[in-house]
Amino acid sequence: MTQQLNMLSVFLIHTAVMLTITAQHNLTPFGTASQSSPYDFSDISKGKPENAVNSPVSNQFTLTTCSSTKLSDRNIDAAWWMFNFSFNTAYISNVTIYYRENYSYRMDGFKLYVTNTSTIPPVGYLCYKDDHGRPYPAITQTIDCTQLGKYVIYYDDRGSDEGAYIFGPVVELCYVAINGCLKGTWGTNCSYACQPKCIDQHCYPGNGSCVWGCDPQSCLNNTCDINTGACSDGCVPGLTGPFCNMSKYFFK
Ligand SMILES: *[C@@H]1O[C@H](CO)[C@@H](O)[C@H](O)[C@H]1NC(C)=O
Ligand SMILES: *[C@@H]1O[C@H](CO)[C@@H](O)[C@H](O)[C@H]1NC(C)=O
Ligand SMILES: *[C@@H]1O[C@H](CO)[C@@H](O)[C@H](O)[C@H]1NC(C)=O
Ligand SMILES: *[C@@H]1O[C@H](CO)[C@@H](O)[C@H](O)[C@H]1NC(C)=O
Ligand SMILES: *[C@@H]1O[C@H](CO)[C@@H](O)[C@H](O)[C@H]1NC(C)=O
Ligand SMILES: *[C@@H]1O[C@H](CO)[C@@H](O)[C@H](O)[C@H]1NC(C)=O
Ligand SMILES: *[C@@H]1O[C@H](CO)[C@@H](O)[C@H](O)[C@H]1NC(C)=O
Ligand SMILES: *[C@@H]1O[C@H](CO)[C@@H](O)[C@H](O)[C@H]1NC(C)=O
Repeated sequence: MTQQLNMLSVFLIHTAVMLTITAQHNLTPFGTASQSSPYDFSDISKGKPENAVNSPVSNQFTLTTCSSTKLSDRNIDAAWWMFNFSFNTAYISNVTIYYRENYSYRMDGFKLYVTNTSTIPPVGYLCYKDDHGRPYPAITQTIDCTQLGKYVIYYDDRGSDEGAYIFGPVVELCYVAINGCLKGTWGTNCSYACQPKCIDQHCYPGNGSCVWGCDPQSCLNNTCDINTGACSDGCVPGLTGPFCNMSKYFFK
């Protein structure tokens, strides 16, 4: 009977894991944005980096609603925009960007990274790299990037040939959303807690599977399932329940 109950609970948990496949929290309220240079060194209120994480969600460019680095000659190597999470590590699923309307050629060759340090050039996971040259990238796009990290960096080390003038790299982001979950949560709306058996309470935002494995304490044969966080071979004597955290004698 107990065994059947265990099986049923494991099945139900499994079903929940399979059905919930995305996590959709925009994490940009939790951290700060920065960029390689101000648009105008004598008026830093123009084109502030945080404009990109505030509404409106639009490609329409103004210096009060979009971020912008300094538009310069070819005397700089790179321009970047960075988001730094205020909590330790974020579980990112994808990143949506809205670039300045009609200026896709300034995005040419851009790269998007998730990293654990603020080092420039970025050192970490390259989520996406635009191929240099035509066609130029879409000004609105969502880039999948299932990664654990502390920083999201939009990086551009290519200038743009604009006919009459050749500019150095510049970043003009009007809106950025970073979708994922805070540490320890997962699911649509990040409304589920990671299984306590997941080591360090770390689980994937998309499906709740433990990232760094599970802690088999109290599990028979020291065996647990990283997807459900449950003990797969049953419990050590005296304990019961899928997570072996209930006393067998409690129900008598
Ligand atoms: C981006 O991720 C969110 C949350 O996981 C999901 O709802 C959305 O469908 C994804 N968008 C794309 C274009 O993949
Ligand atoms: C990122 O944010 C953390 C916590 O708010 C802070 O300690 C750290 O100095 C920031 N790093 C950078 C490069 O801004
Ligand atoms: C800029 O792009 C918008 C649509 O994104 C278009 O309607 C408009 O004509 C474009 N302007 C120029 C000058 O190309
Ligand atoms: C960041 O560090 C964590 C470990 O703390 C690691 O699991 C993750 O893969 C790292 N992310 C990147 C982008 O290197
Ligand atoms: C997620 O949040 C949306 C909007 O608040 C709500 O309509 C939806 O039911 C929620 N989904 C779950 C699975 O909690
Ligand atoms: C859960 O998601 C992670 C990251 O996308 C993936 O590696 C893992 O295989 C998934 N687990 C299941 C049971 O689908
Ligand atoms: C525990 O492990 C032993 C040895 O590998 C195996 O014979 C036994 O069937 C396992 N118990 C369960 C409940 O799976
Ligand atoms: C056992 O673990 C599950 C899964 O985390 C939890 O929901 C439940 O409350 C725990 N039960 C006890 C008695 O601690």
